Amino acid sequence: MKIQLDQGRWNEAQCDALVIPLFEDDDYQGGIASDLDDRLEGLLSELRTTEEWKGKSGDITVIYRPRGMAARRLILVGAGKRAEFDLAAIRDLLMEAVHQVKGYDLKRVAFYRRSRVDAPLAAQAAVEGIILATYDGDDYKTESKSKNFVDEISFLTNEPVDREALLAALERGRILSEATNFARRLVNEPGNHINPPRLGEEARTAGERCGLDVEVLGEPEMEEEGMQALLAVARGSDEPARFIILKHWGEDREAPPLVLVGKGVTFDSGGLSLKPPESMEDMKVDKAGACAVLAAMQATAQLGVNRNVIGLIPAVENMVSGRAQRPGDIVRSLSGKTIEVLNTDAEGRLILADALHYAKRFNPCMIVDIATLTGACVVALGHHRAGVFANDDEAFQSLLQASERSGEKLWRLPLDKEYRKLLDSPIADIKNVGGRWGGAVTAAKFLEEFVDETPWCHIDMAGVDSFPEKSIMKGATGFGVRTMDELASGR
Ligand code: BES
Ligand code: ZN
Ligand code: ZN
Repeated sequence: MKIQLDQGRWNEAQCDALVIPLFEDDDYQGGIASDLDDRLEGLLSELRTTEEWKGKSGDITVIYRPRGMAARRLILVGAGKRAEFDLAAIRDLLMEAVHQVKGYDLKRVAFYRRSRVDAPLAAQAAVEGIILATYDGDDYKTESKSKNFVDEISFLTNEPVDREALLAALERGRILSEATNFARRLVNEPGNHINPPRLGEEARTAGERCGLDVEVLGEPEMEEEGMQALLAVARGSDEPARFIILKHWGEDREAPPLVLVGKGVTFDSGGLSLKPPESMEDMKVDKAGACAVLAAMQATAQLGVNRNVIGLIPAVENMVSGRAQRPGDIVRSLSGKTIEVLNTDAEGRLILADALHYAKRFNPCMIVDIATLTGACVVALGHHRAGVFANDDEAFQSLLQASERSGEKLWRLPLDKEYRKLLDSPIADIKNVGGRWGGAVTAAKFLEEFVDETPWCHIDMAGVDSFPEKSIMKGATGFGVRTMDELASGR
């Protein structure tokens, strides 16, 4: 993807589509709105009197070969009220606008900046929106619209800007959104294409591509470590488990790293506590946390973040067979704690227990895990925000700030000690389910057991892994990639 900064006149921009936001409260007394109206011989004033256009966010009109300008298409996008046009709105506006012309023969897109948001941040968000819209999970359609679509983006502004800062922001937007699309592509891969060994290969290739140290443990190495909780989940599948370790180094290799941990269940049938068919349909997405961590590590390397960052991915397939773990089994986790497995469908916390304990050997300054962990979190927060749990307020604040920059919404949920009692087992140190109520919380309490004192945040992304049914975009969202990168960049 080629990205450039264009400080010429907007009407001279040579492109296949020129995107211009128009506000509900534009007054058409000078400025680009009235200039545009003049060039279009009053078409805008006329359009504004119809029901077809109010300038509300989501309103879109495409004009082919607009008069008085070099662009092949003009895309007018309603941007709502000027005062509410923030970073998230810029990203969403471009996503919608570009999505609207998907399938057209379109290579060069230009965006005219009108926001009052700081120019570099606006530029980053705009590029992110455009690149995210170029892909929507249709790779397996013979007539995919994502192929050969948009390969050049221009950011148009006629205000004085710090060129260098703006170019860096455009590049940052490119890296983050391409990483997000990488995660989305992987999550969208079905279970018959991606299994734990394949995920390991993807990690190796990504590592070579962008300069990460990658190590992939097989089952014998995991046996040796004592990762019995993880291996117990993998036992029902013909596909062997993998434990993927990705390392990015800052200048000081001795500094405590940020450790990112992602749940990598390449398919979750529930195991012997088998899921009903409707709940199983979408369970290829149960590796979304893993893919987010892998993609975030890629972007961290590409951005050259000056900080040590380690990615850990426990990867398994949760299946049924004569070798599968049984409800009632007791396993000894890597930490030494014994777990009574009462429900084999609560498998994510078992593989994360071993990964979180493993994380501690790096002496991390902070651990963040991300997982499609519980249906209960979807019940609590729906598809708009992911749940986040933290044992440390400062760690939570830094993650929250990162999410405010990425536009990926989080909501903090509690970790009160009272919930821990629900996980007491009469015969082992802990059981893997806490009963019907507060399921997202008891899952987080279970994980907390394996991090001890290390500052830690757990993101339950079960509700936000995929775009909701009515959304214009389809398939995986790539949630978490940009937040983890903003956190790692620590700006
Ligand atoms: N992978 C699921 C959680 C999930 C649900 C992800 C919906 C995405 C959408 C997880 O492994 C699971 O099955 N959790 C159980 C836990 C229960 C058995 C305690 C759940 O939420 O029902
Ligand atoms: Zn499950
Ligand atoms: Zn699962």
